[in-house]
Formats: sequence, C-alpha cells, structure tokens
Amino acid sequence: MSPPPKLLMQNTVSVEKRLLKEAERLHENMRHLGYSMNECLLFAPQTLRINELKGQKNAVLLAHSYQRPEILFGVADFMGDSFGLSVNASETKAKTIVFCGVHFMAETAKILNPQKTVLIPALDAGCSLAESITAENVIELKKKHPNVPVVCYVNTSAQVKAQCDACCTSANALKVVEAMPGNEVIFLPDEYMARNLQEKTKKKIHYWNGTCIVHESFTADQILAYKASFPDMKILSHLECTPEVVALSDLAGGTTDMYNYIKASDAKRFMLVTECGMSDLLRARFPQKEFINPCSVCPYMKKIHLENILEALEKEQFEVNVPEPILSRAKVSLDRMLEIGK
Ligand code: 13P
Ligand code: SF4
Repeated sequence: MSPPPKLLMQNTVSVEKRLLKEAERLHENMRHLGYSMNECLLFAPQTLRINELKGQKNAVLLAHSYQRPEILFGVADFMGDSFGLSVNASETKAKTIVFCGVHFMAETAKILNPQKTVLIPALDAGCSLAESITAENVIELKKKHPNVPVVCYVNTSAQVKAQCDACCTSANALKVVEAMPGNEVIFLPDEYMARNLQEKTKKKIHYWNGTCIVHESFTADQILAYKASFPDMKILSHLECTPEVVALSDLAGGTTDMYNYIKASDAKRFMLVTECGMSDLLRARFPQKEFINPCSVCPYMKKIHLENILEALEKEQFEVNVPEPILSRAKVSLDRMLEIGK
C-alpha cells in the first residue's frame, strides 16, 4: 500500500531539507576551491549515503591529502599524509577501514591491523614508485652492499617492506636514516628522495632508480619562471622532486611539513610543488593565503571517487590482504618507523 499523499509530501520535504543541509556543509569548505552550491548539491546524496553506511558498518574512512575535495571534506574521518594515516590506522577501533589512497597505503593499514577488514575502492590505484622495485631487487641490493641497513619509503609493496630493516615516510625519512646503525644506508625506491636526503646526512646513501611520475615532472626552469613573476612567494616542494627543484625551494619535505610551514608563516603567497590535491586542501584550510599553481595530478590517487567508495561500502569490496610470513616481516619494518618517528 502506498503512503497517503500528505505523508509522502512530508517525506519529500524532509529529504530535500537533509540534502540542502548536507550541500551547505560541503559548500562551507569547498567554496574556497571554486565549487558552487549547485555542484555541492550534486555530491550531497552520495556523501550522505556513504556517511550513513559508515555508521551502519562500523567503518572508518581514511583519506590521503591528494584525494578529491568531495572525499576529503565530504566523507573522510581522517585525512593526512602517509605517516599520519599509518598512525590513525594503528589506533582505530572501527571494524572496517576504507582506505582512500593508493594500494600500498591500504596494504600498510592492513599490516598494522591484521584483524580488521581493509577495503580499497579501486584496485588499480597504484603508484609508480611502489611499482619500480620488487623484493628480488632488494635481495640483489643487499648482496651488493652486505650488512648495510635498508630503509624503504612507505611507497613500496608489502613484499619489499618485508626485506627491509625500517620503513619511512616523507615526514620522517631523515630521522629514520639517521637512526640506522653504521655509516651507510640503502634507501629505496625513490632516487630523488635519496639524493635529497644525501644533502642532509653524513651517511653514504646507496639508492635505487625509482621515481614518482608526478613529482619528477616539475623542472628547475619552471620554478625559476614562477619565481621571476612572484618574487615574494614561498616555494614548498615535496622530497620526491628532483634535487634541482629542491635547491630552489624554501622547504623540502612531506605534505604535513608543508601544512605546518604555511600555518607558521607570515607570508601571503605560496607555491606547492606537489600533487594538486594538496594545494586544494591548503587553499580550503587557509583561504586568506594565495596559492600559485603549477601542480600535477596523480592519476592513481584520482582513481577513487564517491561512486566507487559507495560501492566499496555496499559490496564490502575490494578487500586488501597480505599473506604470512610477509605480513609479520613487513610489520617489523613499519613498527620500527612508528617507534623512531614518534
Ligand atoms: P606523503 O608521505 O607526504 O603523504 O606522500 C605520499 C605520496 O605518495 C607522495 O607522492
Ligand atoms: Fe605514487 Fe607519486 Fe602518486 Fe604519490 S604522487 S602515489 S608517489 S605516483
């Protein structure tokens, strides 16, 4: 039996009110990025449904800073850099973790929470750095440099982590390298990050030749051209950029370092030499500051959107699993990082 027309009208009105309220919530943050109220109204049904499902399924949603604004401001319970998200993943009480980031990040969450269900909405959200090296490559490197400790950037597969002594992220790479015993370190897989670290440590760094397709695209000439147009602007680059770009920067670090720098700085204008999501996030956080592009889009990070997050929660897909003994061995490297990085 269909509901009486008066009740139907009341229901329609209350649904419309909820959608409007949700769109206003999204618009509050996203207007600084140029999103209109109408665009926010289009996202509202999905963000409402996702948030509802999270509650019903006791799920928590972790989102890397490079994710789309409607994910960061609409459905994320925690947002941040790889390190911050690893900490969140190790502390959550939820039964399920939906990881909006790339595959190695979801794998890291699983390693730190073997008893929980970890879902990634898009299986093809990879990473050029993680794909640049295999466990066999690490074994060969260790043979070439016997007894030299191996530090791997968190942007690696679980199999690679299992062959290393400690992991690191861009937020704690130098600290982890310095904490290793001896005067030499094998650092992998990012060649540019290794060379940037070499500038800051006395230890001899042996590196691999992986690169990030997003950060290697920035050139020193490009930075110099922007510097000429905006001499007063502060340049913040990610450690995955080339040493030539880093040499022209006021700060080289991870995404959280950039946030902290801007928060503490009196400067009005900044250029973030990193993925576009980070500029969007900071533009929303610091609407009184000006952010000059160029930024570059990570095609892997952008594989995730509201539609596949909704599907992930509805169908409880795609579950990320790491087999033993890889999981336990990789966990030793991650625990070492969490211990040193504290
Ligand atoms: P963060 O460690 O700064 O979060 O960066 C991860 C990443 O993939 C950078 O490209
Ligand atoms: Fe990997 Fe680079 Fe994308 Fe980060 S930005 S996920 S390092 S490809």
